[in-house]
Amino acid sequence: MSSIIIALDGYSSCGKSTTAKLVAQQLHYAYIDTGAMYRAVTLYFIQNHIALTNPKEIDKALEDIHITFRLHPVTKSSDTFLNGMNVEHEIRKMYVSDRVSEVSAVAEVRHAMVAQQQRMGRSKGIVMDGRDIGTVVFPEAELKVFMTADPLMRAQRRQSELLAKGEMVDLPEIMANLEKRDYIDTHRDESPLRQADDAVLIDNTFMTVDEQVELVVGLADARIGQA
Ligand code: DC
Repeated sequence: MSSIIIALDGYSSCGKSTTAKLVAQQLHYAYIDTGAMYRAVTLYFIQNHIALTNPKEIDKALEDIHITFRLHPVTKSSDTFLNGMNVEHEIRKMYVSDRVSEVSAVAEVRHAMVAQQQRMGRSKGIVMDGRDIGTVVFPEAELKVFMTADPLMRAQRRQSELLAKGEMVDLPEIMANLEKRDYIDTHRDESPLRQADDAVLIDNTFMTVDEQVELVVGLADARIGQA
């Protein structure tokens, strides 16, 4: 059976990663969380005090950054490694969320990440979630999905996720962060977040995770049949 590329884009915290991970499991595809890559770069920039106004410093930092994913032996989730260190937990913290949109708006950062993502998807059989997968990384993807949900629902889901990891953040702070990220992600010059013309729009405000996964797997099966 032929393999396809599934591009899953959308706003922050609307369940893209959860859906993408489960779809990949069902189809026995690889899963790449491209947001984690931008978060890992952001963590490196914070730790090494990289100035976003200094292109030379940025280029040097990007040469020194190596991001990989490894399957966690117990949870079976895909953990993010930055230069050999497991940063999966650290990159989800609020201080990284607060800076990630600024860092990911830098053209040099995007070029480096997009090149790596295109290498990762070369042999297809992949589900990739992010903001520009269907528009820039894989404009030829066989299936493109654009996910959205009500902002309050997104903030509540994000709050529960953070709480499960032991970080207590109040709802207005989360809503402000999501709003700020949506604004920067959709207004940046370099590959802004937008729905690809041929993407299927899914508003999951009133959908369960199982329903979303079933919907995307159904769409994928149809495209795999045509590929
Ligand atoms: O999916 P996420 O919320 O973990 O992504 C974190 C940030 O990374 C998001 O605010 C915008 C940026 N991002 C991006 O610019 N392009 C992508 N393909 C994925 C994420």
